[in-house]
Amino acid sequence: MKKIIVTIDGWSSCGKSTIAKQLAKSLGYVYIDSGAMYRAITLYFLRNHIDWTDPAAVEEALHHINLHFVYNTKSMNSEMYLNEENVEYMIRDMVVAEKVSEVATIAMVRTFAVAQQQKMGAEKGIVMDGRDIGTTVFPDAALKIFMTADIMTRVERRFKEMYEKNPNITLDEVKSNLEMRDYIDSNREVSPLRMAEDAILLDNTKLTMEEQLDIALKLVAKKL
Ligand code: DC
Repeated sequence: MKKIIVTIDGWSSCGKSTIAKQLAKSLGYVYIDSGAMYRAITLYFLRNHIDWTDPAAVEEALHHINLHFVYNTKSMNSEMYLNEENVEYMIRDMVVAEKVSEVATIAMVRTFAVAQQQKMGAEKGIVMDGRDIGTTVFPDAALKIFMTADIMTRVERRFKEMYEKNPNITLDEVKSNLEMRDYIDSNREVSPLRMAEDAILLDNTKLTMEEQLDIALKLVAKKL
């Protein structure tokens, strides 16, 4: 059966990974969370006190970073490994969230991540979510979805997720973090967050998970 590449880009916390995971599961495709790769690189930089404003330090550090995903049959999720360590939980921390957009502006970091993402898609049958997947990583993908949702809906969704880990977090902190990331992601020089010309806009503010999955599955069916 024909296999395609599905790209899902969009603003922070508008549910890209939820729909991407469900879609991959329904289709029997591989799901890749490209944001997890930028988060793992950020974690490495923070832990090792890498000065990411220094290109030589970044270049050297990238030589020591090995990223891969391992499918966990219990959580039914592809989990991010940084040099043989499962960092899936740690990369969701606010400390990483505060710096990841900045790290993701670095051209060398993007070249490093994009090359690996393109390899992962070589066999097709993949759903990848991120910010530049339809524009830079897979510009020829058969189906490109661009997701959006209104800001307060996104803030509340992310707040619920983060509150479970950190009950001291406030709605305001989450909102300013999202706004800051959206700003940096869409204003950086290299591969800024943009809707690809041939992408389909999906606003899920008022959609249930079932409804959005149904829409995505119908879009895939048209391409097969
Ligand atoms: O999807 P996420 O929130 O986990 O992504 C974390 C950050 O990584 C986000 O602020 C921007 C960056 N990112 C990126 O620049 N390009 C991607 N393809 C995915 C994420």
